[in-house]
Amino acid sequence: MIIAVDGPTASGKGTIAKALAAHFGLPHLDTGLLYRAVGYQCAQDGGEPNSLADALAACAFPDSLLDDPELRSEAVGALASKVSVHPAVRKSLYERQRAFAEQDGGAVLDGRDIGTVIAPEADVKLFVTASVAARAQRRFAEMRSQGRAVTLEDITADIAQRDARDMNRADAPLKPAADALIFDTTNFGKDEAIEAAIEAVTSAAER
Ligand code: DC
Repeated sequence: MIIAVDGPTASGKGTIAKALAAHFGLPHLDTGLLYRAVGYQCAQDGGEPNSLADALAACAFPDSLLDDPELRSEAVGALASKVSVHPAVRKSLYERQRAFAEQDGGAVLDGRDIGTVIAPEADVKLFVTASVAARAQRRFAEMRSQGRAVTLEDITADIAQRDARDMNRADAPLKPAADALIFDTTNFGKDEAIEAAIEAVTSAAER
């Protein structure tokens, strides 16, 4: 069984994908991490993420980079969003994601274009979303709990900017597949969202 989990930043898609993988005993790939590695490598090399040549050169990042906690930062998320606009960058990461999706027994992949481009044949597609206000509030609470000096205003603006870039790019924009289940977590707590997602996948897989 292949499960595709797509959605915007801070929607809860990563948490849900991880929980689905654990519940169904499937391996999980956070595809955003690949784009984050490219963005981070590009910056480390002194490159410019909007430059195709610089972003493409950074696709040769070492695998060990995927374990670097710095990849999870907001700054690297923004770099990732910029390098992900280039079709050649997306192409260079395609095979790796495809191979993960095709492995025996199935897999859970989360990202922006899993149900539309990477695994259009997925057995179940979830498009996890939530209002900008709810996503900003979650990200704000998370960052404040890490002792980071951030404002809700700045986070809201960052999220809106990242949504706009991810949704409006020409190649593989963030959008639900025609056959995706839209899963709005605005009014859900974490446990509730996980439980509902497991239920939704279980009944979709039975169909
Ligand atoms: O899911 P994330 O926030 O870690 O993703 C970081 C950026 O990477 C996101 O803003 C756009 C890009 N991305 C993408 O274009 N396609 C994917 N499948 C996953 C991420």
